[in-house]
Amino acid sequence: MTHELPSSEQRALTHELVLPADLAYWEEKARRADEQDPLGAWRDQFEPLPPDVVAYLDGNSLGRIPKGVTEAMEQFLRDQWGGRLIRGWGEGWMDLPAALGDRLAKAALGAGPGQVVVGESTTVLLYKLARAALEARPGRRTILVDTDNFPTDRYLAEGIAAERGCRLRWVTTDPEAGLTAEQVAANLDGDVALVLASHVSYRSAWLADMQAVTALAHDAGALVLWDLSHSVGSVPVQLDDLEVDLAAGCTYKYLNGGPGSPAFAYVRSELQEGLRQPIWGWLGSAEPFAMGPGYVPASGVKSMLSGTPHVVSMIALGVALGHLEQAGIEAVREKSVALTSFAVDLSDAWLAGEGVQLASPRDPDRRGGHVTLRRADFESVKDRLWSWGVIPDFRFPDGIRLGLAPLTTSFAELLQAMVIFYDEVRRR
Ligand SMILES: Cc1ncc(COP(=O)(O)O)c(C=O)c1O
Repeated sequence: MTHELPSSEQRALTHELVLPADLAYWEEKARRADEQDPLGAWRDQFEPLPPDVVAYLDGNSLGRIPKGVTEAMEQFLRDQWGGRLIRGWGEGWMDLPAALGDRLAKAALGAGPGQVVVGESTTVLLYKLARAALEARPGRRTILVDTDNFPTDRYLAEGIAAERGCRLRWVTTDPEAGLTAEQVAANLDGDVALVLASHVSYRSAWLADMQAVTALAHDAGALVLWDLSHSVGSVPVQLDDLEVDLAAGCTYKYLNGGPGSPAFAYVRSELQEGLRQPIWGWLGSAEPFAMGPGYVPASGVKSMLSGTPHVVSMIALGVALGHLEQAGIEAVREKSVALTSFAVDLSDAWLAGEGVQLASPRDPDRRGGHVTLRRADFESVKDRLWSWGVIPDFRFPDGIRLGLAPLTTSFAELLQAMVIFYDEVRRR
């Protein structure tokens, strides 16, 4: 084995690697790409990888921890929780859902202020928004959803259909692509109240045509709810310009908010007064501390809230968001395209001949921030890669997802992972 692992501290392989014959060519490419990468320095703004990790390719599932988070959390716990106790609620904690929402709207969502709140899980927010949309289209009884949407989206649509006695219209999508505008057009009619779709498919990374799908839904009189979990912080979105109605997504993936960090919901300003979400909690009411006899919704997007904000998690998210704000979403997307293209090229060069299939779009304009590769034995390949410190993730039945987070992933790191991936695939 001549190829060196990135650091002597990192896990040493216990066997000689089978190296690709043209490795030097790709090493040079990776070296030049890192040298010219305007975001290269951001890697140092994150805590180093643990010593047993060679390459972390799961930033699309749980992003790495930014430097500054630990200190900010410690400071918050000591000075604010510890020092201010209940007085903290009146000194900014209560404003965090809307304040962080506005920052996120500007940094990643192409949305003006007053339309995004942060809190609860993506599942709960999608549920609230979908229910609110259904109530806003009385007389229509159909939700359009695709068969390869993320499980939580499909399950909550099923739950709403059962609860409200409405129908689901399933669009069967190609799992290696995703929902197309043509499919949406073919399935819309006057009974569809809501189109529920993912912007970037969790399995294939298919990037849906948000503009076309949104316009089609509107032409048919339906509302559209986008799950942005796999695009936020990776693919720029223009919610205001595209007149998107509703959106929600996670903050623990490319936004690096930490495990279980709260989700966000977007409600276009013109819709806010007419929408009524189903969980009428005191903190979504107009005057929570009046403790009045009946629920009166808050005005604006705050009516989407229900209960006490996740203040501690929001401290970490606030720090992490600062990184995206400074790096800029356009630069992030540019690097994301370069990284996913490099992964596709390496897969073509080294893995395709070993029976590995690309299960993501080849066209970068139709691809989000990850690349999925398939082979029947990939569940066990993933376990072996993890044991060597290469951390992608696996999606049933046979897909390894390479999640490439532009602020933290280098081209050399990706190359290193692919060298070990190649060795593992060749050995079988
Ligand atoms: C596309 C997508 N939607 C929704 C969710 C669910 O999010 P949560 O567990 O925060 O409710 C996930 C989680 O990974 C996801 O990837």
